[in-house]
Amino acid sequence: MASLSATLYTLLYLSMLCSTSLGAPSFTPILPPSYPLAVKSPYLSTWLPGNQAANLPSAKPQFWNGQELTWSVLARVDGKVYSLFGAPPTSSDVKAATVNSADFTSTHTTFTLTAGSADMVLDFLTPISPLNYVRQSLPFSYLTVSASGSDGSTPEVQVYSDIDNSWTGQFGVDVATEWGYATTARVQSEFSEVNDMAQWGTTAYCTLPVASNVTARVNILGAMHADFAVNGSLAGDWTWTPGSVAGFSHDLGHIKQVTNITFAVGLWRQPAVNYLGHDRSAYFTSQCQDINCACVHALADFEAADAEARTLDVDIANKASQVAGGNYSDIVTLSVRQEFGALDLTIPADTLDTNDVLAFVKEISSNGNVNTVDVIYPLSPIFYVLAPEYIRLTLEPMMRYLSSGRWPHNYTLHDLGSHYPNATGHDDGTAESMPVEECGNLLILVCMYEKATGNTEWRHTYSIILQECADYLVANGLYPFTQLSTDDGAGSVANQTGLVIKAAIALNAYGNMTGQTNYSDTGRHFAKVLYNQRVGIDTNETHFLLIENDDTSWGLQFNLYMDVLLDLDTFPTSALEMQTAFYPGVRGEAGVALDNRVNWGKTDWMMFAAATAMAEGVGNEGVRDMLVDDVHAYVANGLNDVPLGDRYIVEGSGAEVAGTWTAYRARPVVGGHFALMALEGPSCVRVGESARGE
Ligand SMILES: *[C@@H]1O[C@H](CO)[C@@H](O)[C@H](O)[C@H]1NC(C)=O
Ligand SMILES: *[C@@H]1O[C@H](CO)[C@@H](O)[C@H](O)[C@H]1NC(C)=O
Ligand SMILES: *[C@@H]1O[C@H](CO)[C@@H](O)[C@H](O)[C@H]1NC(C)=O
Ligand SMILES: *[C@@H]1O[C@H](CO)[C@@H](O)[C@H](O)[C@H]1NC(C)=O
Ligand SMILES: *[C@@H]1O[C@H](CO)[C@@H](O)[C@H](O)[C@H]1NC(C)=O
Ligand SMILES: *[C@@H]1O[C@H](CO)[C@@H](O)[C@H](O)[C@H]1NC(C)=O
Ligand SMILES: *[C@@H]1O[C@H](CO)[C@@H](O)[C@H](O)[C@H]1NC(C)=O
Ligand SMILES: *[C@@H]1O[C@H](CO)[C@@H](O)[C@H](O)[C@H]1NC(C)=O
Ligand SMILES: *[C@@H]1O[C@H](CO)[C@@H](O)[C@H](O)[C@H]1NC(C)=O
Ligand SMILES: *[C@@H]1O[C@H](CO)[C@@H](O)[C@H](O)[C@H]1NC(C)=O
Repeated sequence: MASLSATLYTLLYLSMLCSTSLGAPSFTPILPPSYPLAVKSPYLSTWLPGNQAANLPSAKPQFWNGQELTWSVLARVDGKVYSLFGAPPTSSDVKAATVNSADFTSTHTTFTLTAGSADMVLDFLTPISPLNYVRQSLPFSYLTVSASGSDGSTPEVQVYSDIDNSWTGQFGVDVATEWGYATTARVQSEFSEVNDMAQWGTTAYCTLPVASNVTARVNILGAMHADFAVNGSLAGDWTWTPGSVAGFSHDLGHIKQVTNITFAVGLWRQPAVNYLGHDRSAYFTSQCQDINCACVHALADFEAADAEARTLDVDIANKASQVAGGNYSDIVTLSVRQEFGALDLTIPADTLDTNDVLAFVKEISSNGNVNTVDVIYPLSPIFYVLAPEYIRLTLEPMMRYLSSGRWPHNYTLHDLGSHYPNATGHDDGTAESMPVEECGNLLILVCMYEKATGNTEWRHTYSIILQECADYLVANGLYPFTQLSTDDGAGSVANQTGLVIKAAIALNAYGNMTGQTNYSDTGRHFAKVLYNQRVGIDTNETHFLLIENDDTSWGLQFNLYMDVLLDLDTFPTSALEMQTAFYPGVRGEAGVALDNRVNWGKTDWMMFAAATAMAEGVGNEGVRDMLVDDVHAYVANGLNDVPLGDRYIVEGSGAEVAGTWTAYRARPVVGGHFALMALEGPSCVRVGESARGE
C-alpha cells in the first residue's frame, strides 16, 4: 500500500514536471505587441514582435518598419546544438531550445530558455543614460548570453551568434558588402534612406574573450551553423559571398557557475544629421572617431551601463507604480527605449565641440519629419521626469533656425525638415501649417523647461521669436481659422476649442515667465470666453466642445494637462472637473476616442487626460484608472505585433476591431505616457549622476 502510493506520487510529480517544462512560456509583466531588442537610434531599431516570443528559436527580429533582420544565437551543450534565437533549425541535428519566460523592463528585454542541461538567458540591453551624453549617444546596444548548468550539472557549452548585411539596410543577396567584424554596404548614400533604413554607415557586431575562447568567421549562414555544430568553433577563410553572415563562437568550456558573454551591436553613422548644411556627428565622436574604437569602448562600458540601467529600471517601475499602479508601470516601462530610440544627440562634425550639443528627433512612422514641434510637445513629459535639459536640446535647433530669419512667417514652423536626417529647414515658407498649434507648443515647452530647470537665461536669447509667437496667438488664438491641429489625421477645421485651450495656456505661460501680466490676462480672457461665456462648452455645461459653438461636438481635451503641470490656473478647477467627469460617458469599447469625428484614440493624449484627472481639487482616480486600464488593455491584448502604436481603434466597426493598432508605430510620442509621473515634479526619477560623462 505504502509503496503504491509512493509510486503514484512519483508519477504525478513527473507529469507535473513535464507539463511545466512543456507549458507555455510566462510573459512578465505582459506580452507586449513588440519587444525592443536593440533600439538606440532612429536607424538602430531592432524589435521582436510579441507573437514570436514563444517561438524565439525560430523568430525573426525586425527593423521597426517591419523589415526582417538576420540575428541568430545557437548554443552547443555537451556537443548537441540548440537554436536559441533567430535560427529556425535547418537540420535534425539542431533542436529548438525550450523558451521558459520573456520579461521586459525600461532598458532590458530578457528571455530564459533551456537547452539540454544548460539554462540559458538572452538579455538584450539598450542603455538609457540621459545625463551621460557619451553613453547616451554611443550607437550600440548589447546582447548578453548567460549559461549555467541545470540542477548542479557542469555541461560543456559553446555559444554562437551572427548578423548579416540586412542591418546595413541593403537586402539584395548580391549587395557588395565589406566585411570584418563589421558590415558596410559598399555603396554608401549619405543621409538617405530606403524604407526608413539608413543607406550609409557601418554595422558592427563585437565581442571579447572573457571567460571563453572566441573564434570568428564570415561565411554562408548554413555553413557557419553546420561548422559550429560539428566543432563548436569557427575556422577557415573569410569570404563575403551572397548569403553570408559575420559570426562568433565562444567556447565557455565546462561551466561551473553562471557564465556570461556579451556582444555589442552598433550602427555607426558619421555624419549623423545634416543641420542647415552643416554635418553633425554623434556626441560620442568626441571620444572615438572610428568604429573599432567605438566597439572597444562599448564593450568596456558594458558593466557600468548595465548597472546604471538596472537602477533606472527599478526606479522608473517603482515611481510609476506608486503614482498610478502596476498597469501604469507596464505602459511607461515599454515606452522608454522607444522614446529615446528616436533621438540623436549630436555635436558639430568639424569641431567636435562638446559645448554645442543639439538633439534631433525623428518623427518615426508618421512621416519622418525632423524635430516636429508637435512631437516634442507630446513626448516632453518623459524629459520632464528624467532629464528636463532635453527640452532645450530638442528645441534649440528650431530656435536657431527661426532666429536666423530664414523662415518667412511670423509663427513657428511645424518641423525642421521634411525627412530625417535632413534638418534643412523650409526657407521657401512651405511646411505643414499648424500655426496656433506650434506657437502654443513652443511657449508651453519653454515655460516647462524654465519651471523644471530654473534656467531663465536660455529664453532671453530667443525673446524676439517668443514674443512674435505670443503676439500671433493674441491675434489668432481665440477663433483659429481653418487649420490642422497636432492630430492632423483628423483633418482641418476652424474654431477648434483644443487650439484655443492651448493658446490660452500658452499665453498665460508666456506672461508668467516674462512677467508681462497683460499676456496672462489675455490667456485668462480666452479661457473665460470658452468656459464662462460658454463659447467652448455645451449649453448643458457638461464638456468642452471640439468646435466652438457646435453643441453636438466633443473632444479629448488633452491640452488642459499643461495648465495642471505648469500650475498656471488658466482654467478654473471646475472646468477640469467637468471635462474629466465627461469621459466615462463617451468611452468606446476600448477607450475614449480623440473626438466625436473618429473611432480611434491616442495613447499619449489619453495619458494626458488621465493626468488632468489628478489635478488638485479634481482627484478623479476613477477616470484616471479607466484611461490607464484602457491603454493597458490595448498594449496587452495580443492583437497587435508592431512596436507600440500610439493610435488604435476604440470603437469597433465593420472590419475595424476595437483594440487594434491603426496607424503609427514606434513613435517617440509614447514619452507622453509619463504625464502622470511628471506631476510628481521635474527629475522625479533620478538618473545617473555622471553628468555628460566626460
Ligand atoms: C537628404 O538629402 C540628400 C541630399 O539632398 C538626399 O540625397 C537624401 O535622399 C535625403 N534623405 C532623405 C531621407 O530624404
Ligand atoms: C581556451 O584555450 C586555451 C588554450 O587552448 C585552453 O587552455 C583553455 O582551457 C580554453 N578556455 C576555455 C574556457 O575553453
Ligand atoms: C573541425 O575542426 C577540424 C580540426 O581543426 C577541421 O579539420 C575541420 O575542417 C573542422 N570541421 C568543420 C566542419 O569546420
Ligand atoms: C549574467 O547574466 C545574468 C542574466 O542576464 C545576470 O542576472 C547576471 O547578473 C550576470 N552576471 C554578471 C556577473 O554579469
Ligand atoms: C503676421 O504676418 C501677417 C502677414 O504678413 C500680418 O498680416 C500680421 O499682422 C502679422 N501678425 C503679427 C501678430 O505680427
Ligand atoms: C469661427 O467662429 C467665429 C466666431 O463665432 C465666426 O465668426 C466664424 O464664422 C467661425 N468660423 C467658421 C469657419 O465657422
Ligand atoms: C507664475 O506662476 C506661478 C505658479 O506656477 C506663480 O506662483 C507666480 O506668481 C506666477 N508669476 C507671474 C509673474 O505671474
Ligand atoms: C503687453 O504689454 C507690452 C508692454 O507694454 C506690449 O508691448 C504688448 O504689446 C502688450 N501685449 C498685449 C497682448 O497686450
Ligand atoms: C441637456 O440636458 C437636457 C436635460 O438633461 C437634455 O434633455 C438635453 O438633451 C441635453 N442637451 C444636450 C445637447 O445634450
Ligand atoms: C490592468 O489592466 C487590465 C487590462 O489589461 C485589467 O483587466 C485589470 O483590471 C487592470 N488591473 C488593475 C489592478 O487595475
